Amino acid sequence: MPPEAGTTLPSVLTALRQGTANLHRRLEARLPFFATTLDVGLYRRLLMAYYGFHAPFEVALAPHVTALDHARRAKTPTLVRDLLALGLTPGDIHALPRCSDIPAIHCDHSALGAMYVLEGSTLGGQVLKRAVAERLQIDAGNGGAFLDVYGQATGPLWRGFLEFLASATAHLEQHEVVVEAAIDTFSSFERWLEAQEVLL
Ligand code: HEM
Repeated sequence: MPPEAGTTLPSVLTALRQGTANLHRRLEARLPFFATTLDVGLYRRLLMAYYGFHAPFEVALAPHVTALDHARRAKTPTLVRDLLALGLTPGDIHALPRCSDIPAIHCDHSALGAMYVLEGSTLGGQVLKRAVAERLQIDAGNGGAFLDVYGQATGPLWRGFLEFLASATAHLEQHEVVVEAAIDTFSSFERWLEAQEVLL
């Protein structure tokens, strides 16, 4: 069942998909989840890099999306849990580099564009969690919880986000600010992962 089944497809979603499709494809091709070089060490470095992006970005987004169940959608605590399971100490995690080039979130509409990217990534996570389980024997209990951060709630939370997106943009005539924030989020994330040397 498509994730948006049962909801009206908002035109802003079409604009977001069109605006970011190439960026998604490129990032997907550069992430090493399916590479022969993927081992536990590289997977750990990948999650460390994810943490370095999500931790500051979730803080920046929090004031803008209070109407959405933002706390329920926090992904950083799950990344921390995985990193601990993979052998890092709380001190190691505290000392991890954090992205200082996160997209500027200057209004609720730009927050929505950024959230589209972060929320949508939970859909791809469903594919990635299976790859990591098969290839590294890592699952939710030993370092793979982030890839299935919402578990069985993945579909309902995605549909909930789409409904929120539709209502919050119902009177917005131009979608550029939303789409640009999504593009910036993909680009900034890719730059950060590249700087952390975890991309192919
Ligand atoms: C190798 C890595 C990735 C794979 C294999 C992958 C795969 C997928 C798949 C299969 C979907 C569609 C799911 C569905 O329709 O049920 C999806 C959606 C999406 N992914 Fe990814 N993804 C990856 C990485 C990422 C990353 C790193 C991000 C962002 C940080 C991301 C953002 C999104 C977004 C925003 C959507 C929603 C598209 C929409 O329905 O509008 N993905 N991904």
